[in-house]
Amino acid sequence: MINKKFHFLCRSCGYEISGFEEWFSNNQRCPQCSDSKVYTIYSTPKNRINDLLGGKSKVKSLWHYFDFLPLNNKKNIVTEGEGVVPIERWLFLEDYAKRKYSLDLQIYINRNDKSFATGTFKDKGASLAASVLKEHGIKEYVVVSTGNTATAFAHYLAKAGISCSVFVPENALLDSEAHIGTYGQRLFRVRGDYAFAKKIAADYANKYNILITGGNLDPLRLEAKKTQVFEMLRIMGKIPDVYIQALSGGTGPFAVEKAFVDFKSVSMFDKIPRFLLSQGNYCAPMAHAWSTAKSKGFPTGYENEYPIYKNPEVLIPTIATGNPGMYPLMAPLVKSTGGEIFAVKEELAVDMARLVAYEQTVKIGPASAAGLLGLFEALKNGYINNGETVFINIGESAGRALSFLQQTAYTTKFVSSADECKRFDRNEYKEKIWSPFEKY
Ligand SMILES: Cc1ncc(COP(=O)(O)O)c(C=O)c1O
Ligand SMILES: [Zn+2]
Repeated sequence: MINKKFHFLCRSCGYEISGFEEWFSNNQRCPQCSDSKVYTIYSTPKNRINDLLGGKSKVKSLWHYFDFLPLNNKKNIVTEGEGVVPIERWLFLEDYAKRKYSLDLQIYINRNDKSFATGTFKDKGASLAASVLKEHGIKEYVVVSTGNTATAFAHYLAKAGISCSVFVPENALLDSEAHIGTYGQRLFRVRGDYAFAKKIAADYANKYNILITGGNLDPLRLEAKKTQVFEMLRIMGKIPDVYIQALSGGTGPFAVEKAFVDFKSVSMFDKIPRFLLSQGNYCAPMAHAWSTAKSKGFPTGYENEYPIYKNPEVLIPTIATGNPGMYPLMAPLVKSTGGEIFAVKEELAVDMARLVAYEQTVKIGPASAAGLLGLFEALKNGYINNGETVFINIGESAGRALSFLQQTAYTTKFVSSADECKRFDRNEYKEKIWSPFEKY
């Protein structure tokens, strides 16, 4: 029987899965062909989106878009007001593009650092997951993550009274560990990299028959994150020309694509933005695969050629996916938008965070710095054209990585008398703060 509000459609064989009941009981796979890639299809009339985007009422969370989210009963919503963060123009970035590259750009920043629960864009997916699990009476769940998804799921599932076993790689930040543990959710720090943590988590879920997160294409994550496109339209009034984000597994870009798949018949969704996606240079398998393919002119089957990096030693563990299983889908998607996948220097993350704090009074985490470095790299390589609107999806606040925040301090002087304390002018720091980017 087809669920009234939504159902899933297998992307491989077209089988219709009636809803989460059937989906969960088949191990989140198509009962007919076992593929795990599905689209969520809604029976809500598409035009309903116009009311949601244009209404004057105060939007309190992503649940404003309930009609296009896979939950049946509003009473099951688990929310902290996620998904409606400000989208701001940051003029210091626009000035830089003008000064250094003579480009007139509008640069919008999606302020996920302001998301209420954990200060990351993972709150959206976790809110939807907790709500759906609650709706289905599920009491135990397994998550595997480099850190931020884990933190968000730990939070929302705790709020819903659901026990969450969290698997993180050995190098996950201590801050993530603290945030997960404090809610009384179990943390398994796996001796190995992210790929190995995924394996151990899957074995554990299998052994005890516990539901496990479905990865980068999990409808629970995609459907929640697609609402960022609605928010672009609601707040900016347009779809940007360029979408920039730090790239790990690719849920963010896939979710953006999903909004365009759903609403291709609605005129406002006429053009998908160009994806410019940055990876930290110490774990950049997709960027490396992409540049090799590009240098060969993207030969047939290029998307199946990618390196796998085991135990990468990185400065930004939250975005380190060494085995880029999603590349065969991500590369064609990026290519179809005219976009690029490239690496940025992880060593510059601290400089980037200092610049943003100095110019904008916003404290960002290292993965957000990687996203913003994507803008600087894109400008340098000529990936952005004059007159374009750029949307940068920064994913986390500095609260996610306090050890990183500590590295961003640069003004401390040790003293033992007032005589040693010199007065200062904040402007003296400007040149030093900008210098890595002036010479970028
Ligand atoms: C802050 C932040 N930025 C970017 C990413 C990359 O997300 P994805 O590639 O899954 O869209 C993540 C997640 O790993 C993250 O936590
Ligand atoms: Zn199928």
